[in-house]
This record gives sequence, C-alpha cells and structure tokens, in this order.
Amino acid sequence: MSLSFLRPRRAVASEAGTEFSPIAVEARTEAPPPGIDPDTSKTWLRRALPILAAHRVIFGISLGLSFVGLVFQVMIPNLLNHAISNSIEAHTVPLAHYVWWIVGLGVAAGISGYIARLFLYETAYDIEYDLRTIIYEHLTKMSFGFYDRVQSGQLISRANSDIRSVQMYLTFGPLILVQCSMAIVAFGFMLSINVPLAFVAMATMPLVYWAGLRMRNAMFPISWIIQARLADVATIVDENVNGVRVVKSFAAEETQLRALADAAKRLEWGYVKDADLRSRFAPLVQNLPQAGLALVLLFGGWMVIHGTLGIGAILAFNSYLMMLQAPFMMLGMLIMMGQRAAASAERIYEILDEQPTVIDAPDAIDLLDCQGDIRFSHVDFAYDPEAERLVLADVDLHIAPGETVAIVGRTGSGKSTVARLLTRFYDVRHGSVEIDGHDVRTLSQASLRANVGVVLDEPFLFSVSVRDNIAYGRPSATDADIERAARAAGAHEFISHLADGYDTVVGERGYTLSGGQRQRIAIARTLLVNPPIMVLDDATSAIDVQVEQAIHAGLREHMVGRTTVIIAHRLSTISLADRVVLLDSQRVVADGTHAELLASTPLYAEVLAQAAEFEAGHDGESDAGIPDVLHVAEAASGAVR
Ligand SMILES: Nc1ncnc2c1ncn2[C@@H]1O[C@H](COP(=O)(O)OP(=O)(O)OP(=O)(O)O)[C@@H](O)[C@H]1O
Ligand SMILES: [Mg+2]
Repeated sequence: MSLSFLRPRRAVASEAGTEFSPIAVEARTEAPPPGIDPDTSKTWLRRALPILAAHRVIFGISLGLSFVGLVFQVMIPNLLNHAISNSIEAHTVPLAHYVWWIVGLGVAAGISGYIARLFLYETAYDIEYDLRTIIYEHLTKMSFGFYDRVQSGQLISRANSDIRSVQMYLTFGPLILVQCSMAIVAFGFMLSINVPLAFVAMATMPLVYWAGLRMRNAMFPISWIIQARLADVATIVDENVNGVRVVKSFAAEETQLRALADAAKRLEWGYVKDADLRSRFAPLVQNLPQAGLALVLLFGGWMVIHGTLGIGAILAFNSYLMMLQAPFMMLGMLIMMGQRAAASAERIYEILDEQPTVIDAPDAIDLLDCQGDIRFSHVDFAYDPEAERLVLADVDLHIAPGETVAIVGRTGSGKSTVARLLTRFYDVRHGSVEIDGHDVRTLSQASLRANVGVVLDEPFLFSVSVRDNIAYGRPSATDADIERAARAAGAHEFISHLADGYDTVVGERGYTLSGGQRQRIAIARTLLVNPPIMVLDDATSAIDVQVEQAIHAGLREHMVGRTTVIIAHRLSTISLADRVVLLDSQRVVADGTHAELLASTPLYAEVLAQAAEFEAGHDGESDAGIPDVLHVAEAASGAVR
C-alpha cells in the first residue's frame, strides 16, 4: 500500500503558482446579494433599502401593474352606472357596448393582476432568499467566540420567522399602499357621479378605519405572545429530538411530555384569545359596509325618487363601498405588520451588526510551502476578553518542523486551547503564535487552516455517506485516495462491513456509528487533506488501544517531515511523541522526553496516573493498555513519595 499521499505537501506554491488555492471552495452560481446598510444610525427600513433596490425592476412592474389592474376594476362600477342609465333606462346606447367594455376591462384587470401577483411573490421570495443568504454568509464569517455565546435556536428562529415578517412588510406594504391609493381613484369616480352622495358614502369609512385600528391594537400583543409560545414549543420539541438519548437514559419522557403539554397549553390559550378577538371584531368590520349601504340607499333612493339621480348610481356606489373596505382595513394591518417587521429587523440586525473578532488582516498573506515550525511566545489568553483569570499565561513553546510533541495536563489545563490558538480559532490577548516565523494574525485564515489539520475528540460527522464525510476537505479526492486515508486511520475494515460500505449514509451527527468509528472517520478526513501540521486533540480517546497502536504505527511511519501535536491522556499515545510538554496552572511547567519528565517532574507522573486510573476504571476495551497503566501508576506513586 502506497501511503505517499500522506507525506506532507511542500510544493503548494510551485504546483499552484504563487497563489494559494483553497481546497473545498466552489464558485457560487449567482452574484452575492447586496447587504444591508451598515450605518446603524439609520432607520431599519432605510438600512434595508439596498435589498429592495436590487429588485426594483420587477417590484416596480408589479406595483405598476397592480395599480393599472385596480384602475380597471374601479372603472367597472362607473360603466355599470352608465349602462343602466343610458342603455336600460334611456335606450340611447346599445347594451352590448357596455357589456363588451366590462368584459374587456375584467379580462385586462385579470391579466395585469396575474402578472402583478406573480412578480410580487417573486420579489418577496427574492428578498427572503437575499436576507437568508446575507445572514448565513455573515454567520459563516463569525468567530468561535460568537458561537460560544449564542443559542442555535435563536439563530434558527431569526433566520426563519424574522426574515418572513420583514419580507412580508417590504413587499406587501407597498402593495397595500397602492390599494389605498385606489380608494382615492374610486372616490374621484364617486365625486364625478354625485358629490353629496360621495360624502355620504364615505361617512362610514372613518368607522371602518377605527374598527381596523382597534382590532390591530387588541390583536397585536396576542400575535406576539403566540409567536413567542410557538418558539417555546419548538425549542422543547427540538431538545427532545436532539437530546433524546439523555431524556431516555434518565427515563424522563414523562417530565418532557409534561413540559411540552404545558407549553402547548399556553400556546392554545393564545390561539383561543386570538380567535375570541377575531370573532368579536369580524362581525363589526363585516357589517359596517351594510351601514354605509343603508345610508347610500336612504339618501340615494331619496334623490332617485326626486329625479336628481339615476338608479345605476346607487348600484355603482354599492360596488365602490365594497371595494373600499379592504384597503381601509389593510391600512390598519399595514401598521401592525410594520411594528412586527421593525422588531424582527432589529433582531436580524443584531446578528448582522456583530462583527467577527477574528478576521484576515487587509494585507494578510497566504501560508505557502509550510515547513511546520510552531512558536508560542509569551502567550496570554482567556476566552472572555474581559476576564481577569487567564486560561493560558505567558506560554512559551517551540516545536521544530517534523517534530512530534505530546501536550499533557490535567483536564481543563488548556491543552485544547493551545490547539485552538494554533489554528487561530481565537486571538491571543498578548504575545504571539507563529508558524514558520509568521504571526498567525498576518496569515489568511483559509491558508492557515489548510495547513494545520485538527482532529477533535468529539468528531462531528455530516448526515451524508461515509465517503463524502471523509472527502469533506477535498471533495475532488479519488476513491483510491479516500480508501487509503481510511486504511491509514484504521477505518477501512469497519467501513467495508457497513451495509453499503463507503456509500453508507451515517445518521445525524454520525450517531449510527460508535464513538471510536466516528473518531477514525474524522482522522481519515484530516489525513486526506494531508496538512503539513496535524493536531490530534484526544482524537483516539474512544478507540481501543490495539487499533490506536495500528493507527499510530501508520502515522509514525508517514509522519516523517510532518509536525504533529498529540493531545492525549494515555501513555501509549504519549509515548509516540519525541517530546512531552506538560501544561498546568496556565503555563508550560515541564518540557522534555517522557523519561526526563518522569524523572524530574512529580506532577507529570501524577497526571499520567490519574489518566491511567480513569482508563482502567472506564474503558473495558483497553486491556492492552493495562500493563502500561500499572507501570505508570507505580512510577507515579514512587515519584510522589
Ligand atoms: N469555549 C470556551 N469558552 C469559555 N471558556 C472555555 C471554552 N473552552 C474552554 N474553556 C475553559 O478554558 C479552560 C481550558 O479548557 P481546555 O478545553 O483547553 O482544556 P483541556 O486541557 O483541553 O481539557 P480536557 O483534557 O478536559 O480536554 C477550562 O477552564 C475551560 O473551562
Ligand atoms: Mg481538551
């Protein structure tokens, strides 16, 4: 088996010219959407204008056509009026003339309505797409510190329901305004038919508006409550699905069920309240037009009887009144939508206005032809920038190219933190982390992370095939490469026994595999990228010792030239390293070979012994590790004594 692909690449620059080419990036098919206006002093609507402006053409056509369609509609009652007076009563114009006009206008209104609606929805979904892309692109730029703080449920709800309410307002708001402007046109027609009657007919409109306003005021808080309670129910369901293993192992199904029932009950209360308000206002709102109609009939009828008005006018007024209800009602709705959209926009902007803390310097260079020299100089670090207590304080560490170094320390001593600083997941507070003499802050993150491969102890797998999981960092890898990486990671054998081999789709987060199997796939995934610097952070903790030895034998054979950092508790793993670095109380307390540390530093033996006790107590699989463990425990007790 040729494992030459496992040798670190040294020729990135010569292969790809002077440019660094990221491995897993494919060009996007569409131009990126415009972002929101970054000026936080502007109102939310003005900040969103660039997004709306990007779709101004189809949006403009849509609004224009809906206006035209409405004008056509408004013309029809007027024609009806003329038809009744000129054709039915006076017989001066043939009836067919009006019939054709009305049919023609109806068809024209229908067609323009169709196009207007189509374009309106297209605009709405374009805006939704843009907002979602903007948020998602922003999220991908955010640093680890941001994800440590936020709740994923919050992010998901902001990326869904909040986008919806902003999108609704941006697209349907202008449409409602267009419809209201139709009211003015309709009023103009009414004035042209009969001025006093036009005012009589409009008398109930303020009432309709008032009723709409009252309904909005009453329903607005309830709709908020419903939104919030829906989110509560969703959170409980989400936690039950994702945390089902914990729930079941504590036999807590009943408790969870009760929590869900409570949340559902509270949601139900909101819905019932909402229905109650709706049923109270709906009859009022629906019957106000009848009052208007009665007024028109009273005054119009009186005028018809006295011969000052044609009977058709009453019919026309009736149609206009019906037409006017909706815009006036919707005006109230528009205000409600506006309030909700403003709140949602604030929630979205809150994410978008948060700037990533770890960003490429404007003059960042690509890490090319990486030799694998690592240097920590006087590094101070804490996860919370404000925290007084440091996680690492004045850490100095040099790892020469090609060296294999184990980092050892008690749990919580900052071992993983060292790995995270090396890949610049976080920035140091003081001091510097350098690779090949370049401060990592001067390098592009993409090139840095392509050169430093990290395997974490809790490997996250995607719900795709085993093959695609392994090829995650190098999608163009051939099947042969993938298999070789899997073999080197000790994963080939169990993968071939899976139902569909490399095509087996793993369950969510890889839960259909054992912990050790997941770890091996994660190792293969990093091996395939073949970085010149590799960090194994407890990457073999769930793999039994024999298999681990085989993996490390393969790695050691081909580690030549590669700088490797092993974070481990097991002696068998640590013994692979040329050098051991002991972390404690925020700093490096010892640095040397395993034998040197065992002889010189009692703490080292103590840490190893603790790890060994843990292994012996918790890991039944690792029989082969026991002799080591006993040896260390003895050494430890000797050293401590
Ligand atoms: N994302 C984080 N945000 C805030 N504090 C953190 C974070 N990750 C770790 N810490 C804290 O930093 C300290 C060092 O953590 P680190 O994960 O580096 O320990 P470790 O040596 O890798 O431990 P273990 O052996 O258990 O993996 C711990 O006190 C921990 O509580
Ligand atoms: Mg750790």
